[in-house]
Amino acid sequence: MKDKVNQIQEELANDIQKVTSSKELADLKVKYLGKKGLVTELTSNMKDLSIEEKKELGKLSNEIKNEVTEALRKLEESIQNKELQKKLEQETIDISLPSEKIKRGSRHPFNRIIEDVEDFFVSMGYDVVDGPELETDENCFQRLNVPLGHPARDAQDTFYIDTEYLLRTQTSSAQARTMQENIEKTPIRMICPGKVYRRDDDATHSHQFGQVEGLVIDKNISLADLKGTLELFAKKMLGENTKVRFRPSFFPFTEPSVEVDVSCFKCGGKGCSLCKQTGWIELLGAGMVHPNVLRMGGYDPKIWTGFAFGTGLDRLTMFRYAIPDIRFLYTNDIRFLEQFDRKDEENEIK
Ligand code: PHE
Repeated sequence: MKDKVNQIQEELANDIQKVTSSKELADLKVKYLGKKGLVTELTSNMKDLSIEEKKELGKLSNEIKNEVTEALRKLEESIQNKELQKKLEQETIDISLPSEKIKRGSRHPFNRIIEDVEDFFVSMGYDVVDGPELETDENCFQRLNVPLGHPARDAQDTFYIDTEYLLRTQTSSAQARTMQENIEKTPIRMICPGKVYRRDDDATHSHQFGQVEGLVIDKNISLADLKGTLELFAKKMLGENTKVRFRPSFFPFTEPSVEVDVSCFKCGGKGCSLCKQTGWIELLGAGMVHPNVLRMGGYDPKIWTGFAFGTGLDRLTMFRYAIPDIRFLYTNDIRFLEQFDRKDEENEIK
């Protein structure tokens, strides 16, 4: 019996040396302490022994059982420590590695244009004003020298809400508002960017688009001031070499009225597909504020003069970023928008 115990002790000492993992340790537990384990088996044939022998064997087997259990417990502890150590080493974080790029949204090209337009005019002393998209017929037409029944109304297919209210067809309605609200603050210098609505909807026209209006009222304002202002504006938005050309035109609320062309920024004026070989691109409507409009706004046209201009923001955005189709601006295709993550300059045509 004692020999057997010695044998177990020796074997255990040997086995312990070899164990390197929790899995092997579990096997070892079964080998010694399992139902048919070496230690358990020591007491399996006790029924034939005398009481004395049983007592002695019981004591001995208990001792060896405790000894083995303790040895295995220590072993388990050390293996667990080693495994934890290894895990910690493997999972260390290298804080010097570059981090994953965080995806950020980017400003929509349309908003960039609005901000640029605002920055330019604010730097020239203009106020940026806002006006409602749901307007009165009075502000959108009547106070702009387009009385009820005037044929010029036909040119702007209007969404009427009722006989009095409509969706503004032009930001020019902000001219009428500004004059009424700010008469005591004259001279006036303002721009009004915003959405306008018209009842046409085809490949090149959308029923909703963006415009920016400009209005200046002061003493001694002339067409030369308008030209100088728009020249600077065109250079700022479309590049230093841009030239500006005035063509006579008609708007009910300006007199004289002009259509403003800019030299084609793609071909520099030589003629290309963008400018349809003319070298010029139509950009704005403008003119000197009509005396009737001044009078309806409360100004004496003998004392006060002014100029006004209006341009489509969608076209400006498309020119600036060489966007070929107006629908890209409204369909929110992420592949289109992502291109504007890059710096502004990369997307600009210069
Ligand atoms: N409101 C005109 C349009 O929508 C543009 C314009 C504005 C013309 C101001 C002259 C003065 O076509």
